[in-house]
Amino acid sequence: MTAVSAETAEGFIRQVAHSFGKACDSYLPAARLQQQVALDALALLPADKQGHLLDLGCGPGWIHPRFASYCSQFTAADLSAGMLAKAASQPLATHLATNYVQADAQQLPLPAHSVDKLFSSLMLQWCAKPAAVFAEIDRILAPGGRVVLTTLVDGTLAELKQAFASLDQQQHVNRFLHAAEVIAAAKPVSSIRWQFEQRCYPLFYPDVISLARELKALGANQVAGRQSRGLTGKGYWHNLAGAYDIHRSTLGLPASYQVLIISGYRDAN
Ligand SMILES: C[S@@+](CC[C@H](N)C(=O)[O-])C[C@H]1O[C@@H](n2cnc3c(N)ncnc32)[C@H](O)[C@@H]1O
Repeated sequence: MTAVSAETAEGFIRQVAHSFGKACDSYLPAARLQQQVALDALALLPADKQGHLLDLGCGPGWIHPRFASYCSQFTAADLSAGMLAKAASQPLATHLATNYVQADAQQLPLPAHSVDKLFSSLMLQWCAKPAAVFAEIDRILAPGGRVVLTTLVDGTLAELKQAFASLDQQQHVNRFLHAAEVIAAAKPVSSIRWQFEQRCYPLFYPDVISLARELKALGANQVAGRQSRGLTGKGYWHNLAGAYDIHRSTLGLPASYQVLIISGYRDAN
């Protein structure tokens, strides 16, 4: 999400929490991108069963059963109480976090140097101030600690944006930061050695309504700075479908997701 005023950011953060809370039951079946991305990211952490891991923006916690290979205990944090409750309803006690913390990643109620591994997948793009998230990571990461984050960057949903832009000038899709802007937000934390890699994950849909439904099921349909919902009536959807269809391939309608994978470690001294 692009930078906005403090007041707008406050309102947006409430909308984001509400929207993800509403989606806690519909999220997982719709989360094919999120599952691919998070599993790719988790593989970048050492599977040594050691230390305290923080899952920042944990969502419904579908990945938590995998954490047993990566840490000896973990904390799950999310803005949304609904998502945390879902994550805390894992059937097996071994898949449960030690703590479920409702918090904004830009201001974490966790002690300094209390986390050995920080994992955060597809949360950062919902934060108006990514530099504040990196400052919190700097504060809570212990010496010898490891970090893996993923975030959506500019170019995500480019085909959908282009289709909307041919119909009106309203903002219907979030503006995602350029990869360089996210990198610039991380770099001031110089005690962590960072690595950045951008990957494109293309997904295909039968039609534009399926894409819109998936975004809603995920709770990812909030748009910062949107003036009105704009999507009024069948005529609008018909025109949108026509504009999107120029991208259609034999696999269906493509939607590109540009993912920045950020990994880092702090020296042990
Ligand atoms: C797309 S979901 C990703 C969930 C999970 N990490 C996954 O990979 O499936 C984004 C999650 O980040 C949470 N979130 C959004 N903004 C946040 C913030 N500022 N602080 C903490 N969590 C936030 C949302 O509530 C939601 O559960």
